[in-house]
Amino acid sequence: MESKSSILVTCLIFATAFQLLLPLSEASLKVGFYKKTCPRAESIVKSTVRSFVRKNSGLGAGLIRMFFHDCFVRGCDASVLLDPSPANPDPEKNSIPNNPSLRGYEVIDAAKAALEKECPGVVSCADIIALAARDASFLLGKISYKIPTGRRDGKVSINAEALQFLPAPFFNLSQLEASYAIKGISLADQPSD
Ligand SMILES: *[C@@H]1O[C@H](CO)[C@@H](O)[C@H](O)[C@H]1NC(C)=O
Repeated sequence: MESKSSILVTCLIFATAFQLLLPLSEASLKVGFYKKTCPRAESIVKSTVRSFVRKNSGLGAGLIRMFFHDCFVRGCDASVLLDPSPANPDPEKNSIPNNPSLRGYEVIDAAKAALEKECPGVVSCADIIALAARDASFLLGKISYKIPTGRRDGKVSINAEALQFLPAPFFNLSQLEASYAIKGISLADQPSD
């Protein structure tokens, strides 16, 4: 419990620090963003994900779903991780699509703790989710891709927005198409690398 809240605090400190840097850092995502500042960042996430997924492969699917649920609400900013607080009394985490079915929080917490030891205050939680989903895709399905990093953690998380943007499991094709279109993704989109 204690380590969980300290990780949350770390994420919040990030969000605050990066808020100030936003004009400088916007649109600066790139492959290998942490190459100089935290060279082992991606390998630390990968080995953390591997150790959890080996024991429970369902967690790998959970991490891919977490990335999807994070990105569809306010962009890929780790807003899905925020616990209730005075600033976010009813966060995304509480919403029907996420509670109680979203899985893998403990993997992100473990990776964040390892990264804080290696290079304190450098790697965002948003990037950890993105990398963890990528690593899970490889472990479960041998799908391998490079992913740009440099995301910043958001500070706002609202239950109702998760309900608004995440497609429901009973959506038909036209409803699914519409909810992806809101995020700029069409039926013709293909993965690229
Ligand atoms: C999908 O569901 C919506 C909302 O219920 C409905 O209006 C639409 O006709 C459905 N589309 C198809 C192709 O069934």
